Amino acid sequence: MIRKYTFGIPFKTDAVVVDMSAAPLPLPLFNTKEENGLTFTYQMNPNDVVYGLGENIRGMNKRGFLYNSLCSDIPSQTEDKTALYGAHNFLIVAGKKPFGLFIDCPEQISFDVGYTDYNSLVIATAAADLDFYLLEEKTLKEIAHAFRVLIGKSYIPPKWGLGYQQSRWGYKNERDFYEVVERHQEKDIPLEAVYMDIDYMERFKDFTIDEEAFPNFDIMVADFKEKGIKLVPIIDAGVKIEEGYDIYEEGVENHYFCTDKSGQPFTAAVWPGRVHLPDVLNPEARKWFGNKYKFLTDKGIEGFWNDMNEPAIFYTEEGLKEAFDYLDSIHDANIGIYECFGMKDAVLNLANNPKDYARFYHYVNGEKIVHTKLHNLYGFNMTRAAAEGFEEIDPSKRFLLFSRSSYIGMHRYGGIWTGDNCSWWQHLVMNIKMMPSLNMCGFLYSGADLGGFGCDTSYDLLTRWLQFGIFTPLMRNHSALGTRPQELYQFEDSGYLRSLIRFRYSLIPYLYSEYMKCALRNELLFMPLGFEYTGDSIAAHTEDQLLYGSSLMLAPVYTQNAFGRYVYLPEDMLYVKYSGTGGRHFCVLDKGIHYLELTLEEFPLFIRRNQMLLLCHPDNTTETLDSSNLEIIAFADKSDYMSYELYDDDGYTKNIDLQKSSKIVLRKTAGKWGASSDNPHITFFDIHVITKQI
Ligand code: GLC
Repeated sequence: MIRKYTFGIPFKTDAVVVDMSAAPLPLPLFNTKEENGLTFTYQMNPNDVVYGLGENIRGMNKRGFLYNSLCSDIPSQTEDKTALYGAHNFLIVAGKKPFGLFIDCPEQISFDVGYTDYNSLVIATAAADLDFYLLEEKTLKEIAHAFRVLIGKSYIPPKWGLGYQQSRWGYKNERDFYEVVERHQEKDIPLEAVYMDIDYMERFKDFTIDEEAFPNFDIMVADFKEKGIKLVPIIDAGVKIEEGYDIYEEGVENHYFCTDKSGQPFTAAVWPGRVHLPDVLNPEARKWFGNKYKFLTDKGIEGFWNDMNEPAIFYTEEGLKEAFDYLDSIHDANIGIYECFGMKDAVLNLANNPKDYARFYHYVNGEKIVHTKLHNLYGFNMTRAAAEGFEEIDPSKRFLLFSRSSYIGMHRYGGIWTGDNCSWWQHLVMNIKMMPSLNMCGFLYSGADLGGFGCDTSYDLLTRWLQFGIFTPLMRNHSALGTRPQELYQFEDSGYLRSLIRFRYSLIPYLYSEYMKCALRNELLFMPLGFEYTGDSIAAHTEDQLLYGSSLMLAPVYTQNAFGRYVYLPEDMLYVKYSGTGGRHFCVLDKGIHYLELTLEEFPLFIRRNQMLLLCHPDNTTETLDSSNLEIIAFADKSDYMSYELYDDDGYTKNIDLQKSSKIVLRKTAGKWGASSDNPHITFFDIHVITKQI
């Protein structure tokens, strides 16, 4: 049962798609206090597990820390941070009577999940106007499902969005892009897309192309397309202030930019220096900005990533003045401890300063609203602008779209990547733990910068990260300017990395099928063990294993120099050990704790009881992949029959219908297993049904 409790007059965020009237206050379960916003306190039991908060740092179980719901540009995702790029105010408290909650409010909120007092969940909102949704269902799965129904169906990418994608900040001209493609081809490494970071633009201006560096842009797009490879440009939130630049001039003329107090376009600074911010909260401005993507779709582009949309601000005029004034004031002083710290702070606090977010305004439905009140909706609406633009450009087609900043509701329009991580083992761990929380908030199309964005990667880190990344819907290797190049061909041992990417392509029939079923039925692709094995307290506290779709469990290796890892099996499972360049070994493992020996070039995969995994022959792009000729690996536990619902479609139109699923059946007759399907186009090239030897 879902109930909505309304406090004050909330802003309509469009996070929720189900219209429901408010239940009478007081809010049950919580102690509510109104004073400088609202404070909600809930008394937890010592063993309650708290899931959720979407894109965030720390564990799957959020207990013991304080989180801030405030979309932030965080160049260094260290453990002391309290917020990342998204604001996902959804939690599930898994206690005796589990419940979920969603606070629909775009202003800053803090979630003290047992940080001040281990047994108290204290939620403090800056605003007094909000909708508080309480979700009470019998199981955790049902709560997650009910929430997803409430917020509407997740974004569905084109199938090519599941292919392997290469990115790096620093590809500067056509030659660089051709080189990336050629070197993948030389090493026969599958490749689906190459990303264009800010350098493709003319002086970092959105919807422009640097014609000196890219004299034949359209030809390059077409050339790559012929090879089955897409180019995916970045779009930044800030629009450069430059006379004669059409986007800037149209924006000023039509009042499409956020304004300062006096009603003039507000000036901030990002990559190009001084910019204005499109007022994407204003429907007219949003429509205008969204239609600008046509400049690139007309050139054959079919996918985009939206960046710096928290929005990130390097500095503002006012901030700069304050910093320089301070520096001037100590110019002739004897600079001691306080001046020295003050000097550093004056410069470091220029970027993303809360004071600046209070200096600009949005016009929404005739009302002027200060940005801080709507802060968490900016990235959402920039991405919504693009998605609504695509609807006009070609309503029948699926475009690839994902964003850095987000709010719940944006999951209907695009995916997210998890921003500027580093080449640290700890960030591989964070990636693993974050996936189910993102799924709970509707973000199915997501993934981290594989190999790590900042800092220099190492072969072993990249290897382990890819061994997990082959399962994330967005599978993109991305790195920052100046870091060690990490395209797979940069490594002498690229043969093994290639085999991992080839495995990813074999997995696509299963991944696509599971993704689509989860998106259309509001289910989780990545699920914590505690959601399935209820009542199993070890499963409830297992943070480094994930259920993956209906058939699989993942147990990635995430430590350097690991000789293997411990794994907890909540029930008997089929252990598939992938080794070397594609070799595999099967064995059934009993419920319980096991140590798996795994060299760097080995990773484990588990098939659940009476479930099957379908794989196809790998290929170099999704376009050429034959997903109808399949191999089956199944674990038959005391059963002579099992079935799998396999979904497939053309992968690029919106002609999506689960009725098109095929039923794959495994049946044992006269001691022999055979496979069949109600779809005559599906054939099988290998069947392995493993049973437990007693
Ligand atoms: C931001 C993005 C990163 C991108 C860089 C340059 O830091 O998060 O992915 O490479 O900007 O555009």
